[in-house]
Amino acid sequence: MKRVLLIGGSSEIGLAIVRRLAAGEPVRPVLLGRDPEALERALAGLEAAGCSDGRVAVIDARDAGAHQSAVADAFAEAGGFEIVVLAVGLLGAQAAFDADPALAREVLETNFVGAGSLLLESLRALRAQGSGTLIVLSSVAAQRPRKANAIYGAAKAGLDALANGLADAVHDDCVRVLIVRPGFVRTKMTAGLPVAPLATTPDAVAEATVKGLERGSGTVWAPAIMRPVFALLELLPRALWRRLPL
Ligand SMILES: NC(=O)c1ccc[n+]([C@@H]2O[C@H](COP(=O)([O-])OP(=O)(O)OC[C@H]3O[C@@H](n4cnc5c(N)ncnc54)[C@H](OP(=O)(O)O)[C@@H]3O)[C@@H](O)[C@H]2O)c1
Repeated sequence: MKRVLLIGGSSEIGLAIVRRLAAGEPVRPVLLGRDPEALERALAGLEAAGCSDGRVAVIDARDAGAHQSAVADAFAEAGGFEIVVLAVGLLGAQAAFDADPALAREVLETNFVGAGSLLLESLRALRAQGSGTLIVLSSVAAQRPRKANAIYGAAKAGLDALANGLADAVHDDCVRVLIVRPGFVRTKMTAGLPVAPLATTPDAVAEATVKGLERGSGTVWAPAIMRPVFALLELLPRALWRRLPL
């Protein structure tokens, strides 16, 4: 029985990863998130997909003071986890940020400080047990933030850099970090937005993630074509990058 902790327990991508893991072997899931009803619905969906003996607990990414005990309690009650998936994220809209700086701060706090704090607590617990993998949902936006998503992109770049640096720090403790960088994924996060080129689905991201786990990859791009695309985009001179309708 594989024990899986999903932080951001109502995330469509995170739940697709848990379902995909459960297709390979039985999974006992624990879902941490901020909305108890959404967590219960998500758990029922996982149980319908074959998971068993799951539980949910409430945590808010912006309440960093509660992270250490919430993650430690989840590990203690489950007897540890083979896999932790960190899927907390908030997109927001650049136009709204211009109108209300508090919304921009919420996106920075959720995606970098909050998710970063949950990342640190997850790694602390995995190191203490001396094994396990942390899957971090980053984004292609971390590679080169665009003017249309500068706040979200900057926060994701910070989280991605933190995960990258700590992946090397925990390597000798037999703990792995897998960074997943999806492009545009059709989930409730992107509902109502114009669909970007190379858009993908939660199930396709989950498939790429589990393949990356099996291969021992450090980073997964989803879809894989995003890696060369962003390698090229990163080389574009700023004057050209600024004018692209991205
Ligand atoms: N969808 C995309 O195009 C895309 C692309 C690249 C990367 N990603 C990243 O992939 C991850 C999963 O995204 P998704 O597409 O699955 O979107 P999603 O379904 O909206 O999942 C986001 C998760 O973050 C949770 N969350 C947000 N703020 C929180 C807070 N303050 N405290 C606790 N939980 C909080 C949400 O909880 P609620 O349900 O309660 O809001 C939800 O569980 C995110 O990190 C996202 O940034 C998504």
